[in-house]
Amino acid sequence: MEFSTTTTAVLHTLKTQALAVGVFQDGILSPAADALDQASGGALRSVIQSEFDAAPGNCLTLHAPAGIAASRVILLGLGAQDSLTSAILARAHEALAAYCVRAGVSTAVSTLCALECADADLTDRARTTARLVSAAIYRYDQTFSKAKPAVKLRSFALHLSRAQVAKARTGLDQGAAIGAGMNLARLLGDLPPNVCTPTYLGKTAKSLAKQFKTLKAEVLDQKKIEALNMGSFLSVARGSAEPPAFIVLRHTPSQAAARKAAPIVLVGKGITFDAGGISLKPGPGMDEMKFDMCGAASVLGTMRTVAELDLPREIIGIVPSCENLPSGTANKPGDIVTSMSGQTIEILNTDAEGRLILCDALTYAERFKPAAVIDVATLTGACVIALGHVNSGLFTRDDTLAADLLAASRQAQDPAWRMPLDEAYQDLLKSNFADMANIGGRPAGSVTAACFLSRFTGKYPWAHLDIAGTAWLEGKQKSATGRPVPLLAQYLLGQCLAEH
Ligand code: BES
Ligand code: MN
Ligand code: ZN
Repeated sequence: MEFSTTTTAVLHTLKTQALAVGVFQDGILSPAADALDQASGGALRSVIQSEFDAAPGNCLTLHAPAGIAASRVILLGLGAQDSLTSAILARAHEALAAYCVRAGVSTAVSTLCALECADADLTDRARTTARLVSAAIYRYDQTFSKAKPAVKLRSFALHLSRAQVAKARTGLDQGAAIGAGMNLARLLGDLPPNVCTPTYLGKTAKSLAKQFKTLKAEVLDQKKIEALNMGSFLSVARGSAEPPAFIVLRHTPSQAAARKAAPIVLVGKGITFDAGGISLKPGPGMDEMKFDMCGAASVLGTMRTVAELDLPREIIGIVPSCENLPSGTANKPGDIVTSMSGQTIEILNTDAEGRLILCDALTYAERFKPAAVIDVATLTGACVIALGHVNSGLFTRDDTLAADLLAASRQAQDPAWRMPLDEAYQDLLKSNFADMANIGGRPAGSVTAACFLSRFTGKYPWAHLDIAGTAWLEGKQKSATGRPVPLLAQYLLGQCLAEH
């Protein structure tokens, strides 16, 4: 996919298969729409009057309009003129990209990013657009006997004034890299669990390191994990014949000056299948537990984005990965394990395995003396009950980190909502036989899960993102979303700018 800018003064002479213009409610045309309307002798106004509702997300195609060089003009609804927001622009571009893919269009130009809106600067608008268009061309076709027809869209340009080009170019490059990171995360999520194993995730990290010079991948095997005393992680891995992997993927920026700040560490839950273990899950819908590695996928995807942009900051991705299956060697309710931190854990429910693998990864992260650690996990069904499929749950005691992550989530249109983490919830994790239990009961299930993790994060600023409700879509549209790659990438972009 190629993203570019064009500054052609005379819009109706622009040759492209699809030229998109914005239309506001009450028949108000954007400047670009107005220019095309004049060139076509009023063709746009007349169709808008007769059959176009300019509500956000609506889209209407005019084929071979007279007086216009483009093969199609796409009208995109933008709602009321005085309340244009980045979210409305995003909906319009989503509709445009979906149309282009459906109609087999190979080249498109949008005039929409030239429009000002209150909550996003030009770089933001261009970044979001490139990200959405990249996401729209994703097709899962790895495991069909016949290849699906290829998506034709290959070139997408923003029509702008000359003064806007530089800022838009920055946004397009960032958005394309974020889109590629998301699409990697989606592919890893969508692949079946007999393909996307811990070993496969390790290989993916290695191949990223081959592709991008700033990345170095290290994949620790069972023996090395044992040598690190990750007793909690290993207790989960024990139930499966599939070997575990502990992946460390490190981005060292090419600019030496950018290596001075303390690194930011991302930790992703990499359970490639969660059957629940001995505390077996019910059968219906269990296939969706192949998505239980979406935290890991979003970390690998974000690392891809980071490397493609060569962000001027040391960033490290850590992925503990294994399966959670019942077997004669699996851990059992009542088992007590010793984590890498030395703290002991009574496993009361083997299905609360995410925290058991993450706690050792969080202890491992201490060695990098990080400026911040953010873990990403499909951790609790309770988080889906609390927030549904809209917001990811954000847990942190650090108000600065919370503010930065929430601002990034808004800017990237990848919403997150801050959840509580009061000390009082910690009581629910009391065990009569070990330093803590791995579950706190049904009330506030996503909070007690975060409380459990917090006990391993005393040495650095830490935040936890529970993406159980946002990492994939259910039902007919079943597929990984690539969230929260946009949030994470936006946060990292912000941290790099802050440092320089
Ligand atoms: N991977 C699941 C969480 C999950 C469930 C994500 C459904 C998305 C949809 C996690 O490992 C799990 O099983 N959590 C348990 C914890 C409980 C046993 C305390 C849960 O949420 O039921
Ligand atoms: Mn589980
Ligand atoms: Zn799980």
